[in-house]
Amino acid sequence: MSVLIKSSLARKIVMALSGLFLVFFLGQHFIINITSVIAPETFNLWSHFMGYNPLVQYALQPVLIAGVIIHFVMGFVLEIQNNKARGLSYVKYKGGANASWVSRNMIISGAVILAFLGLHFYDFWLPEIAYKYIENNPEDATRYHAETVHKFEAIWRTVLYIISFALLALHLLHGFASSFQTMGINNKYSSAIKTFTKIYAIAIPLGFIFIAIYHHLNPITH
Ligand code: HEM
Repeated sequence: MSVLIKSSLARKIVMALSGLFLVFFLGQHFIINITSVIAPETFNLWSHFMGYNPLVQYALQPVLIAGVIIHFVMGFVLEIQNNKARGLSYVKYKGGANASWVSRNMIISGAVILAFLGLHFYDFWLPEIAYKYIENNPEDATRYHAETVHKFEAIWRTVLYIISFALLALHLLHGFASSFQTMGINNKYSSAIKTFTKIYAIAIPLGFIFIAIYHHLNPITH
């Protein structure tokens, strides 16, 4: 039993650390993407830098992908382990006084985000890899804004993105706050940290929703 608890705690810490890392990525991803609305030339500049800088491409990008894989694999392991320990699944579990629907269904919101990432990689990452490394096209620092806006032409994709961002907000509402709890951070700043995590969990996905709707409503016609 104590081995189970110890390894479960270790897994929770891995979840918390990888989750915090992904939250940090999300913040910088948002800052770059919001420029696609307010300053298209800056968006092109930053996207080109991110796409061709060797440190970003060969060091940060693999670390990010590893972070995503670790977070999801560990999430599923933790879910299975919790179900075994409890003898019932999260879905069947009726929930205690302080176990909200969101906290009991992190696995469901997580699975939706994983499916979104599959679509998102197909939309942006794979064409980029093909453009650079398969078709060997020349560098073009002006193409990113139009490519991004075009992606939101289809209403079905815009809606799928919006639904995913709403579930991302739910996932972060529980996950971001509880990562600090898991790390054992308990001091006079705890309640301020918690408030910050809740604001971040709602504001960043809302911002992504705004970007998706904005590009859908303002297509590039030429
Ligand atoms: C409107 C919202 C969003 C837009 C317009 C957008 C746009 C982009 C673009 C242009 C890329 C670059 C692909 C490349 O050049 O390699 C990218 C990559 C990526 N995005 Fe998003 N994104 C959005 C939301 C999100 C969200 C909410 C997440 C996470 C839940 C996310 C996760 C990622 C990841 C993991 C990558 C791969 C990064 C890399 O390794 O290059 N994105 N996105």
